Amino acid sequence: MSCKIDMEGMVAVVTGAAQGIGAAIAAKYVQAGAQTVILDVCGEEEILDFLNQMEAQGKRPLYYRCDISDEDKVAEVFRNIADTCGRIDILVNNAGIVSDWNKSYEVNTKGTWYCSEAARPYLKKVSGNIVILTSASIFSGGTGIPQYVATKAGSYALTMFLAREYAKEGIRVNGIAPAVIMSKMLATRFGSEQAVREHYKQVMPLGKVGEPEDIANIALFLSSSMASYLCGEVLIADGGRMHIG
Ligand SMILES: NC(=O)c1ccc[n+]([C@@H]2O[C@H](COP(=O)([O-])OP(=O)(O)OC[C@H]3O[C@@H](n4cnc5c(N)ncnc54)[C@H](O)[C@@H]3O)[C@@H](O)[C@H]2O)c1
Repeated sequence: MSCKIDMEGMVAVVTGAAQGIGAAIAAKYVQAGAQTVILDVCGEEEILDFLNQMEAQGKRPLYYRCDISDEDKVAEVFRNIADTCGRIDILVNNAGIVSDWNKSYEVNTKGTWYCSEAARPYLKKVSGNIVILTSASIFSGGTGIPQYVATKAGSYALTMFLAREYAKEGIRVNGIAPAVIMSKMLATRFGSEQAVREHYKQVMPLGKVGEPEDIANIALFLSSSMASYLCGEVLIADGGRMHIG
């Protein structure tokens, strides 16, 4: 007997999916058969290779250049997506940045709100759901970036607020709080991906750094019917560091 998450016929929107965790999440939806829609700030020509790779695995994702901190643009883009695709089943609020206080708040907290509100009427029609990427660093305090942890705590609080508010409309809202997932930023900080892997082999309870695909699998699960009774749940994905590390 096999068990497979099938998202054929569904439309999944992933913000900040030009690279990193967002790209891995977008790939999961493509592989599950969904029409995937990517929002990011780069020009489409910068992710043509990725879009071509995705087309070889399923439906080619649609791309919208959109700064999620621009409320009017976000509203316009979600109207366009609904017009083009006919429906929106899933929103993954993944885009996030490390920046100054104002920009961090604009993107990490307010951008999550803008996208959720813009998707809400379409999600309501199909009893859809939202996944929000917060961070395990909001519990530990992280290291040296107060504006990041504070504004990601904002996205955690929004997960709770939206779960309660949108549940009345049949929309589930859940979150993921990752820590130490391989990224360009981490590789730059340690000098190379290899150096990151060596370092975290020693310090993580599971003996390894997380991969974007680890988080993508959780996003796919949370947004699928397998998680139909989860609402207002934030899964900490940190290789066991917080609880047993
Ligand atoms: N990598 C980790 O270890 C880690 C840990 C905890 C939480 N997270 C969270 O996971 C998410 C993805 O992290 P990542 O490591 O893949 O980051 P990343 O920097 O590799 O990718 C973030 C993406 O968001 C896009 N983006 C930035 N600002 C945007 C805006 N205003 N509008 C639209 N798109 C925008 C970027 O262009 C980029 O493609 C973020 O929310 C991050 O806070 C990551």
